[in-house]
Amino acid sequence: MSIASTAPPPLELLAMRAPRYTSYPTALQFDDRIGPDDAERALCQSNDDLLPAPVSLYLHVPFCRSNCFYCGCTRQITRNPTLMSAYARALEQELSQRAALLDDDRQTVQVHLGGGTPNHLPDDDLSRIMERVHALYGPDPAADVSLEIDPRLLEPGQPARWAALGFNRLSIGVQDVDARVQRLINRVQPAEQVARCVGQCREAGFGSINFDLIYGLPAQSLQSIDATLDFVEQQRPERVAAFGYAHLPERLRAQRAINRVWLPDARARLALRDRIEQRLLAAGYQAIGLDHYALPSDSLAQAYRDGSLHRNFQGYTTHAGCDILGFGVSAISRIGATFAQNTKSTAEYHAAIATQQWPVVRGYQQTDDDRLREQVILALMCHRPVDLPALGRQFAVDPDHVFGPALDAIQAMAPRTRPLAICESGRLRISPEGRPYLRLIAAQFDAFQPAARPRSDVAV
Ligand SMILES: C[S@@+](CC[C@H](N)C(=O)[O-])C[C@H]1O[C@@H](n2cnc3c(N)ncnc32)[C@H](O)[C@@H]1O
Repeated sequence: MSIASTAPPPLELLAMRAPRYTSYPTALQFDDRIGPDDAERALCQSNDDLLPAPVSLYLHVPFCRSNCFYCGCTRQITRNPTLMSAYARALEQELSQRAALLDDDRQTVQVHLGGGTPNHLPDDDLSRIMERVHALYGPDPAADVSLEIDPRLLEPGQPARWAALGFNRLSIGVQDVDARVQRLINRVQPAEQVARCVGQCREAGFGSINFDLIYGLPAQSLQSIDATLDFVEQQRPERVAAFGYAHLPERLRAQRAINRVWLPDARARLALRDRIEQRLLAAGYQAIGLDHYALPSDSLAQAYRDGSLHRNFQGYTTHAGCDILGFGVSAISRIGATFAQNTKSTAEYHAAIATQQWPVVRGYQQTDDDRLREQVILALMCHRPVDLPALGRQFAVDPDHVFGPALDAIQAMAPRTRPLAICESGRLRISPEGRPYLRLIAAQFDAFQPAARPRSDVAV
């Protein structure tokens, strides 16, 4: 059976808003019923599991040198090295505090430094943090150790130093190479500057580079996105993430500098997304999930092909089933069924670390129903077919009863000739037409979001 009907045309669906589902439930459901004691208990208990999960570390560095107007991340604009060094020392302490709770034989398979802009930290601070990571957590020789960088901040010799610190993957914020778009988002970085950065990273031996791009930015057009894609083809990063711009000026002050009328409308956004996808596919990349692309030889593409792709707070990953330990302001830990988020306030963070407290201020404890829905939503986000009857058996529920309303809602979303998802013998999969609507399809299985809300950031 195809899930389809005659109701609204898919374009209208683009005006609906749905989460990106880097977790289920999303962070919107977190509250202060989870605190430091709960996180600590979950971590200590996880050591006693029959087969303790491998560990993935996420370190948040909130500092940026300048204010990119589009940015939705937790960050602080500063050029003050004293302030950054003080934060780095607190991160080192937090690494020690958490390691003391973790059994020595736990395996660390992933380390990611995100931001903000981790390469804005003074070199010595970055070195000390990584030395502490290696001393306390001893990442596997095959672990992915990655750093998010702003190419404008690169100084000679840095890529070689990063490699010596154990980093083997870099993620470069490219966003768009068009000069006008760059001016409107306050991120001027000529393509030559980014190319020089890529060249130096390649020279230092980095064999895995990711480019972050954004579509839906002010004044973006098919012509400007083509220039960005020409650049991508020339540089040939192993991975490309093409995020849809989320404009939430009510919540994000910096975005108030972006006038809504400069933004491409829903139809133009879809055209930009299609152009990115067509050109990257033609250039030999594989499309992965919602918004990622990878060269076929890359581990993310391999994981996609063999069905082991996973999604967590850092986006798509090859590391399923990890306990995630988050360090620094706003970082989220996930240990078994417990989510725990650190405070976003730098002052509160320093105070907690100084008193040896895990700076958790909110979180969530998953129920069985959450775990069931999580399996459906994460599989859909990873483009894996979902066997609904098998899940029903696993969780001892009637799949027709639990998933019937979601399937009906998806059916009502598109004309019969263009189904967004196909369900055959209880196996649900996204159709090619459904890919741009992945979030919306997943949202139908979200118990906290029974009806998708109209989207405020896109003019239809
Ligand atoms: C955590 S940010 C930090 C990146 C890094 N500081 C840099 O130099 O770009 C990672 C990525 O999130 C994406 N991003 C940030 N704000 C966004 C927004 N409002 N909508 C869509 N993507 C966004 C950007 O592509 C960015 O590169």
